[in-house]
Amino acid sequence: MKALVIDGAYGLDNLRVVERPIPKPRRGEVVVRVRATALNYRDVEIVRGTYHTRFPLPLVPLSDGVGEVVAVGEDVTRVRVGDRVCSTFWQRWAAGSFDMAEPSSQLGGPIDGLLSEYARLDEQGVVLAPEHLSDVEAATLPCAAVTAWHALVTEGAIKAGESVLVLGTGGVSLFALQFAAASGALVIVTSSSDEKIERARALGAFAGINYRRQPDWADAVLNLTGGRGVDHVIEVGGPESFAQSLRAVRVRGQINVIGYLGGTEGTINPLDIFRRQVRVRGIPVGSRASFEAMNRAIEVNQLRPVVDRVYPWMEAVSALRHVESGSHFGKVVLQFG
Ligand SMILES: NC(=O)c1ccc[n+]([C@@H]2O[C@H](COP(=O)([O-])OP(=O)(O)OC[C@H]3O[C@@H](n4cnc5c(N)ncnc54)[C@H](OP(=O)(O)O)[C@@H]3O)[C@@H](O)[C@H]2O)c1
Repeated sequence: MKALVIDGAYGLDNLRVVERPIPKPRRGEVVVRVRATALNYRDVEIVRGTYHTRFPLPLVPLSDGVGEVVAVGEDVTRVRVGDRVCSTFWQRWAAGSFDMAEPSSQLGGPIDGLLSEYARLDEQGVVLAPEHLSDVEAATLPCAAVTAWHALVTEGAIKAGESVLVLGTGGVSLFALQFAAASGALVIVTSSSDEKIERARALGAFAGINYRRQPDWADAVLNLTGGRGVDHVIEVGGPESFAQSLRAVRVRGQINVIGYLGGTEGTINPLDIFRRQVRVRGIPVGSRASFEAMNRAIEVNQLRPVVDRVYPWMEAVSALRHVESGSHFGKVVLQFG
C-alpha cells in the first residue's frame, strides 16, 4: 500500500510517498481501507514542524478520516468487517474525564495517522459514520466537529435562546455555528471577509462582524446582544483575540479556549475574568462518547458538514497549503481511490 510520510525532516516539502505492507490487526485492533481524510490546522503545523510538540519521524500525518473495516483482530466486538467508521482523535479516550486520554494515543502524531491507503486503529478509537453523510463529509468529523460539540454541548450544556460567538469561518467555527443553530441558539460570527459572513448567515448565523474592518469587534457583539454579551465563545484566535472575547462575553458566560490562529503572544488581565466571573476552559477535542452523542444529533437534524474543497489524496501538499492560506470556508478534504 501507499502512504505519505513526513520523513527525514519536517516541512511541507518533506512529505514523501512510501510503499509499506498493508497492516495486520493485532488483538483489539481493526484495519480500515481509508476512503477520505480531512485536514485540520494542527496537521499543517505538524507537517511544517511548528506544532508545540515535535514527534519522532517518520510519521504518517492526519488524525481525521473515514474508511471501511477490512480486518479485525482477536477479541474485537465493537465493529465488523464492512462497517464504515470514522477515526477518533484520541484513540483511547472512550468516555469520562480527560484523565482517560493518554497523550501517546493521538492520531497523526505521535501515532501514525490516516494519510495512507490502509490504517490500523484501536477498536476503541472508531465510531460508525452517520449514514446520510458521504465519505467526504464523514471524514471531517473527528477533530473539528467533536471539538465544537465538546465545547458547546458536553461542557457548555448549551440551551435554546442562548447566544454563541464563533471566531472566523474555519472547520471548528462552522461546526460550532451549525450545532448552536440546531440547539436553538443565536449565533454571531466574526470573519475577515464579507463574502464569508454572507455564507455563514446562509448557514444560520444571525449576524456577522468583519474583524478586519472592525478591530474592536467586542463592541459590535455587545450592540448585537443589547449590551449583555454572549453566553458562549468559541475562541480560536488565541491570546490576540482573547481580551476582546472577554469583553464580548456576558457575566458568568463561558469561553472555550481552543486555538491560536492569531498567534501565541498577548496580554490578558486575569482580573477581567474575576470581575465578570467568566468561566474559561481549555478544550482538548473530545471523547468517543462525545463523538457518538454528536453523531446522533447530526443524524436527527440531518446536518451536513461544510466542505470547502476536495483534493485527490496524492495532492495533500496543495491541500495543506490551501488550509495554511486561511482562504477556505469550512473543511478541506482528501479523497482516495
Ligand atoms: N483544542 C482543540 O481541541 C482544537 C481542536 C481543533 C482545532 N484547534 C485549533 O483551533 C484553531 C482553529 O482550527 P481549525 O482547524 O478550525 O482552523 P481552520 O479551519 O484552519 O480555520 C481557519 C479560519 O480561521 C479564521 N481565522 C484566521 N485567523 C484568525 C484570527 N486571528 N482570529 C479569528 N479567526 C481567524 C479564518 O476565517 P475568516 O477568514 O472567516 O476570518 C480562517 O479561514 C487552530 O488554532 C487549531 O489548532 C484546537
